[in-house]
Amino acid sequence: MTEYQTILVERRGRVGIITLNRPKALNALNSELMNEVVGVVKEFDVDDAIGAIVITGSEKAFAAGADIKEMSTKTYAEVANQQFFGAWDELARTRTPIVAAVTGYALGGGCELAMLCDFIIAGDNAVFGQPEINLGVIPGIGGSQRLTRAVGKAKAMDMILTGRNMKVEEAERAGLVSRVFPKEEALAKAIEIAEVIASKSLIASALAKEAVNRAFESGLTEGVRAERGLFYSTFATDDQTEGMAAFVEKRDPIFTHR
Ligand code: CAA
Repeated sequence: MTEYQTILVERRGRVGIITLNRPKALNALNSELMNEVVGVVKEFDVDDAIGAIVITGSEKAFAAGADIKEMSTKTYAEVANQQFFGAWDELARTRTPIVAAVTGYALGGGCELAMLCDFIIAGDNAVFGQPEINLGVIPGIGGSQRLTRAVGKAKAMDMILTGRNMKVEEAERAGLVSRVFPKEEALAKAIEIAEVIASKSLIASALAKEAVNRAFESGLTEGVRAERGLFYSTFATDDQTEGMAAFVEKRDPIFTHR
């Protein structure tokens, strides 16, 4: 069993759960935590026994941002030469779906980590924001790009330039959050949702995720062309044969992720 300093890791059936666990710092994302989260996500991602991943924090804070104490004395040369925050980009390359279960503060890097996941399930006390401007910096883990794509230019500019927070009602209205539950239930609901995802063909869910991400990253014609190719490739899988045979035979499919 690997020992972790900043996270808790659990396998529940086909769902891998990562809980950020630096309660005294409201789960501020330091380098150790980044490396632990990214390392576990990469392990889960190549494990057939895991069909979905949940990343969560505590009821008070999903994560209150990158660790300001760790960053405060860094110079330009250090952050640039060390490619500071660079490892987080790995999360965007995973094939396995990742659900963020957010309660409490998701600020700065915390909001960015939630947005690096495939979608966000929130508790009714969730608060989102990109307050970096108050520290004399700007978002550095993709926030200026993913928030703008999620909520549009007007709200993204408003939040990133003023540093104001967005409560969960506004975040849901704006499309940042997919579903909201009472804060005590949000994690359990996110795990239930991840279990639904994990019950499908892992190959199909990875291709579906890739297709939706094309909508995020490319134009319509290119995206539709990519989708068609990904759709065709599902016909090379045992899970397509099984899924369609099960429908015709009026039974539940047994996916083998092949
Ligand atoms: N980094 C380091 N430590 C942090 C932290 C952070 N981002 N956020 C909170 N903490 C620490 C506090 O320093 C405090 O530690 P001490 O007890 O040792 O003083 C502890 O967590 C509890 O925090 P507070 O006492 O401030 O708790 P609160 O309930 O009064 O306030 C809060 C909560 C409003 C979230 C407040 O902690 C806060 O504003 N945090 C910073 C939010 C922020 O600016 N995030 C952006 C960081 S920059 C970034 O993320 C860059 C990027 O693009 C990636």
